[in-house]
Amino acid sequence: MGEQNSLQSAGVTGEWIWGDDLETVVFAQAYGHGRTIIFRFKFDNKSPRPLASRVATCYHDLNTSTPGHSFPTTSTMREAIWTAVANIWNVCCLHPEIHQLDVIIDILNEEAEHHGQQASWDLCHEKMYTDYVEMLSPASHLSLNNQQMSKIEYRSLVRLNQLGGRGCTTLVYNASDPLTKYVFKGINFRTFLNGYENGHILEEIKSFYRPMELIASMPRHPNIMAPAQTLVTVCKPGDTVPFVCGTLYPVLSNGDLAAYIEKSNETGQRIPATKKAKWCYQMAAAVAHTHFDAKTYHMDLKPGNFLIDNDWNLVLIDWEQSDAPVTTAAPEIDGTWDVEEVQVQNSKTFLQYTNYTGPERKNMPDTTPDDNGWNVWNVGLVWSRQCRKALELAEVFSLSRSMWMLLRQPDMGSFEDITATEEISEDWNMSEDIPLHGRDAVDRCLMKDPNERIGLHELVTFWSKEKREVESV
Ligand SMILES: Nc1ncnc2c1ncn2[C@@H]1O[C@H](COP(=O)(O)OP(=O)(O)O)[C@@H](O)[C@H]1O
Ligand SMILES: [Mg+2]
Repeated sequence: MGEQNSLQSAGVTGEWIWGDDLETVVFAQAYGHGRTIIFRFKFDNKSPRPLASRVATCYHDLNTSTPGHSFPTTSTMREAIWTAVANIWNVCCLHPEIHQLDVIIDILNEEAEHHGQQASWDLCHEKMYTDYVEMLSPASHLSLNNQQMSKIEYRSLVRLNQLGGRGCTTLVYNASDPLTKYVFKGINFRTFLNGYENGHILEEIKSFYRPMELIASMPRHPNIMAPAQTLVTVCKPGDTVPFVCGTLYPVLSNGDLAAYIEKSNETGQRIPATKKAKWCYQMAAAVAHTHFDAKTYHMDLKPGNFLIDNDWNLVLIDWEQSDAPVTTAAPEIDGTWDVEEVQVQNSKTFLQYTNYTGPERKNMPDTTPDDNGWNVWNVGLVWSRQCRKALELAEVFSLSRSMWMLLRQPDMGSFEDITATEEISEDWNMSEDIPLHGRDAVDRCLMKDPNERIGLHELVTFWSKEKREVESV
């Protein structure tokens, strides 16, 4: 982390660097000493040489033939951003308004030389903060199944490190009780600044509220994360009406299954067979409950979305329902297939898939990032109404790909550059400790033709028996 050396010696961590769509602004967010601060670097064509302009020029790859108007590489630009932040961090923190949530620190386009090598800056109360709060809903507008939830203001939370990927899942604590950590999941001002221009932020807000409402109305299951007990709120500047921007969950300190597999691999350990059988059973039970009892679907099944609780049981989190991971997605959800359940004989049915050849179709918002088939035509929305069996068997594929990752313990890092589910071929190298019938069951669920896969009821029965057998040895 050479680029953050000066920041880190100041006890601060640089978290995010991102730009606007107009390509004139670069934002950077850092946290430390109980504060999270957003910094802004704006391009100014009247003053192209100072830091802010150079950062914007380099980040957005703007045209310039003068080397002093940009940086030679992205990493020298990043280093310059974090060094500037390190140099002004302490003085910024002394500003009486720094704790206000609408604050952005503008790095001014003045020559740093005139300020003893420190970038000059200005504290700005960003008007877009009101736009951000106005996009959120008050608790009374959410269907939370009459759940009694406590409320806490976002401003009383102290952010620590971000967890997970591009979302806004963060470790936090209440300033009045630093020893009790929580996981914050929601939409903060940074998320807004990242997606406000093309309107995608509205979808992100919906994808945050939708699972909250879904889980609140779902019958409970031991292998599915219970609804959050605490809502996090923000208000418009100068106002006291609370809007819901997030939820708090207890921290499960054993982490998620993907990290657990990776950690075991790093230390060269095979996860014990009893644990594997129990976890496969619990994964299947959680997804079966989702389909048959809650009558819904998950769509983001992968080891990273199963947490390990304090009793070493798995719990399913992160109800995406709009995007799917390329590493576990079933091949038939790529938007090119339609499906119908047809009667064969007795009460048996068969799923008939037909390749869609009509005009281009879309049931996902234009602003959806990524360009996988399901980001354009989300079969979940259609099959959940028209053919639940097809949805079930697609989830069986994702579930079993996740089970394969657990049982086989492949190098999880090797999946980072995967662009399509077909790029992963499930081998059973070094898996002599996994019984043959267990491997066969997983292989069957990974068949390209969903009709060949095992249904969720049968899969739960299989893994329940397997778990009992392994435990009795
Ligand atoms: N309650 C929790 N306890 C511990 N770790 C958690 C918790 N919730 C989430 N995480 C960690 O954060 C990661 C991201 O959280 P998740 O809810 O899946 O959000 P994202 O939408 O970013 O994937 C998870 O993979 C897990 O490692
Ligand atoms: Mg996740």
